[in-house]
Amino acid sequence: MREEEPAEKTPEIMYERLIKNAQEILVQNEDRGLIMPDRGYYEGVWLWDTGFIEIGEAHSNPEAASRRLFDWISQAQWKNGFVPHILFLDKKVERYFPGPEYWQIETSSNRPAAETSGITQPPVLAFCSWEVYEKLKTESPDNAKDFLAKMFPRLLAFHQYLIRERDPEQSGLVSIYHPWESGMDNSPRWQEALAKIPVSQKQIIEIRNLRRDVKNLKNQWAKEGKNDTEALEMALSMRPTDEDYARFFFLLNFSKDRQYDDRKIYREIPFNVKDVLFNSIFCASNQSLLEIARELKIENSEVAQIEKYLEKQKIALEKLYDPETNLYYDFDVKNQRLIKRKTIAGFMPLITGMVPKERAERMAKIGQSEDFSLNKGKFLIASTAKSDPNFHSQSYWRGPIWMPTNWLVAKGLEISGLKPESEQIKKSLLELVTEKGFYEYFDAQTLTGLGRADFSWTAALTIDILKQ
Ligand code: DGY
Repeated sequence: MREEEPAEKTPEIMYERLIKNAQEILVQNEDRGLIMPDRGYYEGVWLWDTGFIEIGEAHSNPEAASRRLFDWISQAQWKNGFVPHILFLDKKVERYFPGPEYWQIETSSNRPAAETSGITQPPVLAFCSWEVYEKLKTESPDNAKDFLAKMFPRLLAFHQYLIRERDPEQSGLVSIYHPWESGMDNSPRWQEALAKIPVSQKQIIEIRNLRRDVKNLKNQWAKEGKNDTEALEMALSMRPTDEDYARFFFLLNFSKDRQYDDRKIYREIPFNVKDVLFNSIFCASNQSLLEIARELKIENSEVAQIEKYLEKQKIALEKLYDPETNLYYDFDVKNQRLIKRKTIAGFMPLITGMVPKERAERMAKIGQSEDFSLNKGKFLIASTAKSDPNFHSQSYWRGPIWMPTNWLVAKGLEISGLKPESEQIKKSLLELVTEKGFYEYFDAQTLTGLGRADFSWTAALTIDILKQ
């Protein structure tokens, strides 16, 4: 807790304090009018972080949240509609790796004036915009409509880009071509697909010397009282390995070397996956985009194209369901098969509203089982199931509990008619941040806060849960 404990701790006092602390973090992480993930390492403004952060911010200041969403997308978006996963605020970064000099987006004629990365992230922006709009509407209906009118063409262009370039075969599912695009960088889901990318010992050593994430975390843990060896061990266990990073770099260079030309990348890249989390979010965002069009009374062929794609998407998502295990899985385009690894991504179709209630009930039971909820009495879903051979309770997306993915499942359960289960996740999330703080993620077994402290999306979604 950031403040002294009050003599009497009623839930109201506790929650007021939690909101105040969360708001302070968001103020502290603001830079030039936008909100960064944290103050210590992530130097830039990320796509899906921004969406989640503004959902939380919209409770207290929907006007500012709507302004930031628009500012972010209008600086970050490329001329072909593509939206990158990082908008850098400076030409050179000091803490984060890899900065703009590695992406070299000047190789593309589509680049915007700002410095950005050259890959995308789960397309949460349309559904987040809708959530922000709903809050702004009660305060100022005119500003709310203006916000939607400004966002709509940009969101539409992004969705059209995804449909055109990431699903050229019109399967109803869009492809990602980098594990970073999934948001779940080192998930075991990518292991088999990544294994096809050869990396040499020399490349592994080169990348080890370039990485700043481990050094940065080591310093944080040293400040928190760990000795040098302990701090390094903890930092290493919390992040992807050097071998993972060498492969991430291979894929980064693959796109850069093709001047970010999607036609070439799509055909040639060794990593091409229909990610179930990415596609579920895209489906939910397409629904929001259509809501926005209805609100703005826009009816045209472009809107009809989204409507048509949405129908296709629902059919295609259903094909990712595996009745034997009651979860959904990614489809590996190169290997032409489902990637049957049990992770929190397998629950994401819940947020599309298309999962039948009976199936959602079975999925909730799996989430509550000891394979995913490792802490008795709490409903907190680990990023990777304990039964997975690569489960590791501290390693980034190989086990730890993350706020945004649990928040998405809670939302999905509610949409699917399972309110009590949804409330159970939210209650557990509140207990978690009250006891441990607003960490980037949490050890799946011990619940220790991991990664960076005072993390924006953890703080923002806590506000959202409390204000609902
Ligand atoms: C990182 O740098 O850790 C990110 O997850 C990539 O966006």
